[in-house]
Amino acid sequence: MSHTSLCYLNGKFLPLEEASISVLDRGFIFGDGIYEVIPAYGGNLFRLDEHLQRLNNSLQAIHLKNPLSNAEWATLLSTLVEKNNHGDQSVYLQLTRGVAKREHSFPAETSATVFAMSSPMPAAKTTLATEGVHAISLDDIRWRYCHIKTIALLPNILLRQQAVENEAVEAILIREGKVTEGAASNVFVVKDGVIKTPPKSECLLPGITRDLIVELAIKNQLACKEIEIDESELLSADEIWLSSSIKEILPVTQLNEKSVADGVPGPVWKNMQTIFQNYKQSLRDGIEASRVK
Ligand code: PDD
Repeated sequence: MSHTSLCYLNGKFLPLEEASISVLDRGFIFGDGIYEVIPAYGGNLFRLDEHLQRLNNSLQAIHLKNPLSNAEWATLLSTLVEKNNHGDQSVYLQLTRGVAKREHSFPAETSATVFAMSSPMPAAKTTLATEGVHAISLDDIRWRYCHIKTIALLPNILLRQQAVENEAVEAILIREGKVTEGAASNVFVVKDGVIKTPPKSECLLPGITRDLIVELAIKNQLACKEIEIDESELLSADEIWLSSSIKEILPVTQLNEKSVADGVPGPVWKNMQTIFQNYKQSLRDGIEASRVK
């Protein structure tokens, strides 16, 4: 690590290397917790209200009370970003059901473990716009509450690993013949100029980047539909994109070792990429995003 990174744990800011939790933490024992990943561009937290709303939804879904108000979260996270003054950052925050004797059902008195850290945002691949990335499609082996951003990510990890072992960056998941999402991203396809992404449901995480892409498409009068996507449409798409807070928008140029259309990032991705990067720049500049197209 080039410099010390400060994190937040249960009310205190401290160096990451000094932060530790009990081995009885239910996050460690059961994966009983939820998380968020929030980018910060030029010190501005990206779509914070949306991330906090999703955080609250995840907490509600696992019956864990949010120990902080949205205003307290905003202060905590912007303090963390300020203290780790390393340009564009990705903030990771996690809450677990806390420390208790190992027993599956909830402990009578829960005091959540609250943890947040920040890392420099990884730079995009320099060949992204010329070569794109490779993906594979796999059966979606996950549970039926994929809208909860749970820290219990073993299925996602196994799927992503299988992709990596096949020289791909992501696994695109198929449940009952329909595209759901990636192991850690949302999926878009483009066919005949129309951008499509699966509608929100319990089969996928409602990605903040996904929602922004839909919003930007509408603002810029690009045809965009939230609609179920058959596996066959994925295989015959003109373009495939992956989206996430860390990866932003990746053009997939090879799927299952076959070229997607002519095997280079497509024109609709290029257009959306420009729109997205301009939006981000407006945040870095501290300009109200709503004033910029
Ligand atoms: N993952 N779907 C899944 C399963 C994800 O894990 C993620 C993000 C997304 C995209 O959501 P967003 O646009 O809000 O980042 C979709 C994060 C980045 C992670 O686990 O590191």
